[in-house]
Amino acid sequence: MKLPNLNEARKRTNNQVDYIYLDQSYDENTFKGQKYFLRTYGCQMNVHDGEEIAARLESLGFEATDTIETADVVILNTCAIRENAHDKLYGFLGRCKHEKEKNNHDLVIGICGCMAQEEGVVEELMKKHPYVDIVFGTHNIHELQELLLKKNEKQNIEVYSCEGNVYENVSYKRDSNIKAWVNIQYGCDKFCTYCIVPYTRGKQRSRKSSEIIKEVEELVKNGYKEVTLLGQNVNAYGKELDGEMSFAELLKAVSDTGIARVRFVTSHPWDFTDEMIKVIRDCDNIMPYIHLPLQSGSSRILKLMGRRYTKEEYLELYKKIREWVPNSSITTDIIVGFPNESDEDFKETLEVVNECKYDSAFTFIYSPREGTPAAKIDDKVTMDVKEKRLYELNELVNKYSLEANKKYEGKIVPVLIEGVSEKDNTKVYGYTDTMKLVNVVGAQDKIGEIIDVEIVDAKSFSLDGKAI
Ligand code: 5AD
Ligand code: SF4
Repeated sequence: MKLPNLNEARKRTNNQVDYIYLDQSYDENTFKGQKYFLRTYGCQMNVHDGEEIAARLESLGFEATDTIETADVVILNTCAIRENAHDKLYGFLGRCKHEKEKNNHDLVIGICGCMAQEEGVVEELMKKHPYVDIVFGTHNIHELQELLLKKNEKQNIEVYSCEGNVYENVSYKRDSNIKAWVNIQYGCDKFCTYCIVPYTRGKQRSRKSSEIIKEVEELVKNGYKEVTLLGQNVNAYGKELDGEMSFAELLKAVSDTGIARVRFVTSHPWDFTDEMIKVIRDCDNIMPYIHLPLQSGSSRILKLMGRRYTKEEYLELYKKIREWVPNSSITTDIIVGFPNESDEDFKETLEVVNECKYDSAFTFIYSPREGTPAAKIDDKVTMDVKEKRLYELNELVNKYSLEANKKYEGKIVPVLIEGVSEKDNTKVYGYTDTMKLVNVVGAQDKIGEIIDVEIVDAKSFSLDGKAI
């Protein structure tokens, strides 16, 4: 048994990162005939980890199922970013417990992902949820087989709180055969004072560019049209590796593979270079879509958040991107109610939103995360005030989303068609180069292709169009 440890997770040493080439030879008969149910919560990084977990389970003989009633193993791949992620997990665990007690005593329940890296969570699982069989963290997904084989032990908990390694030769069961996630870096060293990620995912470790390019080339060969380069701070790529490419150079190299579309998330304003903006401007297959988290419009709060930029520096960068890449769309993340955020601080956030007129924004109420510096601040702002601020911010953000979308009406734009629309099977859906969701009529036979679409109607969160 190995329990997570916050002090260990916080540590950053100069220890070298190991690049480990995984041996993927599994015995397909190990769990033949058994079924797994996998549920993933949270960000794209978790979704992509879910694709790895699925591949690993299937190589051991498991088949996927989408109900817990038909499953032999349930794996919950969790998110820790805000408290409501916890609530969702415990709600679902209740259902699993019921199923195990009433119908299937042999049901194996496993928890992994970011919550598994939290000391407090694992303590609670041990005390109050003894029916959970296995717990493993973000650093040891590749030990799933051993954990499943030892499942008869009482609560098998293996969570490493290390800085982390880089695993290569990973298999994925990708959710799509049109677009793919590609990790370029793991972990985060920024330690924004509100954020749990540097503790749950370890230090920043970049993959070698040669491995990344190899993976993208393989995806191109297999017919993929789009890759999204993934990392907590993609534009800090390579900084900790001697002689490695910069993110701008990596973007160019990925563009040179000839894949139809390249995207990347998430960029940190602090690491955004002019070279990056030029590469985005100059390479047609790098999509003009940038997610640029603001977090707060108040320099005072930004400083307390440890964000490393002021409101003015952010605005300067924002304007430069808009000027140099005029057709770009820019989205953001904003937190309201950081401890002791004043009315004046909040007003500055609204001012920045008024100035940037984002294409869209993800907005959150600050959620204290155990072990982070911000969680220790005595916060005088009530939840009522925070909720009102969120409401006001959302009104403004939605107004600008609609405005940005309205500009598309009557235009003809390229859309990568991804599949049949869930709500209306006479339509298909896809995304523009600028990451706008479009529901399209007349393109049933165009799934997997980039086609010209005329936009006939714009809403706050999607566009309607017809194929040309
Ligand atoms: N509370 C609220 N929102 C948070 N985020 C990260 N940590 C917290 C927190 N403790 C938001 C940030 C980040 C996004 C992924 O989640 O805006 O960019
Ligand atoms: Fe969290 Fe900041 Fe790292 Fe983003 S950059 S993952 S917000 S610590």
